[in-house]
Amino acid sequence: MKTQVCIIGAGPAGLLLGHLLRAEGVDCVVLERRSPEYVLSRIRAGVLENITVSLMERLGLDARLKAEGLPHAGFNLADGERLIRIDMEELTGQHVVVYGQTEVTKDLMDASAERGLEVIYEADEVALHDVESEAPYVTYRKGEELQRVDCRFVVGCDGFYGPSRKAIPEKVGQNYELVYPFGWLGMLSDVPPCNHELIYANHARGFALASMRSPTRSRYYIDVPLSDRVEKWSDDRLWDELAIRLGPEAAANMTRGPSLEKSIAPLRSFVFAPMRHGSLMLCGDAAHIVPPTGAKGLNLAASDVHYAAEALTGFFKSSDNDAIAAYSDKALSRVWKSERFSWSLTKLMHRFPEDGPFERAMQVAELDYIASSRAAQTSIAENYVGLPV
Ligand code: APR
Ligand code: PHB
Repeated sequence: MKTQVCIIGAGPAGLLLGHLLRAEGVDCVVLERRSPEYVLSRIRAGVLENITVSLMERLGLDARLKAEGLPHAGFNLADGERLIRIDMEELTGQHVVVYGQTEVTKDLMDASAERGLEVIYEADEVALHDVESEAPYVTYRKGEELQRVDCRFVVGCDGFYGPSRKAIPEKVGQNYELVYPFGWLGMLSDVPPCNHELIYANHARGFALASMRSPTRSRYYIDVPLSDRVEKWSDDRLWDELAIRLGPEAAANMTRGPSLEKSIAPLRSFVFAPMRHGSLMLCGDAAHIVPPTGAKGLNLAASDVHYAAEALTGFFKSSDNDAIAAYSDKALSRVWKSERFSWSLTKLMHRFPEDGPFERAMQVAELDYIASSRAAQTSIAENYVGLPV
């Protein structure tokens, strides 16, 4: 097969990029290791910044998002019994939309056929070749057959564990990584949320987050030691812990119910630079990971894809090489600012095992400052709704 762009990975980044390129008449193909069902089975975060919403709007794929997405004007930081509301709408004129990442992926997936976006699922042994040349190619196995895709650019949208980042020589790339000393235990339950907005809580017993997927489906998290196991958390034990950590007001409004899903995920901050090497570009989790505290993962993938689609369209339609050359610096500039915000909110809202009384006093002082300063709340608000693209 010969095409202009070979995209590896059919998660939100790969599908969003594929649709944007097809909409501009750029030929591309998406190679995905898993089945569509497997891709949709992943439970992921659900807060969309304006960049993600606007790309779906631009593609005309926002009908369900508009119908089912929940606009949120604010969110809350809980510190013991104190609830600090960050009024994003009032402070920045912008809001976020609560809509599951899985739903975004489903909307993109469902539109692939009608939009002429070729996605090859269950493509095994995907391997990148000659990415430093202007004629790279990708091989993969489909059943017994070894297939080859000749292209001008390869875009790695294959997540943290995919092969694309590893195709960049070690002497070229630089890893930046921080692994956090806890994970998040997440639970999905078909019960109404305890608050109409999100609550991030820093309690003496640990972190908690009250989120949602709809007015009848809640998503909750607590932080747990990395040694913890989900089997040790019965629904009752988790509901009891959430009620304590989220505080009395949230607990009073909390509806309990059976968990539909419970799992523990590790937290890390990670960046790989550069995000382009020769004819290979990286987007999304293939290049960076953020702790979920700032709800940035999907939205950073969206801004990467926005820049990559602009650069690739310019290359193929106007022979513009400059945007391709500038892609990595442009994407990383926004990546680093989102990494900083996600890291800082994680530091503010979690109790770290190595922290002592001074570090806790710094958290209390920062929360006091945020509670009393419009400037501090505006800074948090503009980062949470998403910095300009
Ligand atoms: N060959 C083909 N596809 C692969 C390979 C491979 N060797 N390895 C991984 N993939 C696929 C995965 O199966 C997955 O569907 O690449 C896709 C990567 O998707 P994501 O991991 O969802 O990453 P991305 O599209 O960048 O989306 C970022 O996802 O993990 C969350 O928090 C993250 O919200 C963020 C979002
Ligand atoms: C979620 O709803 O899954 C969610 C929301 C906000 C976060 C992380 C996860 O910061």
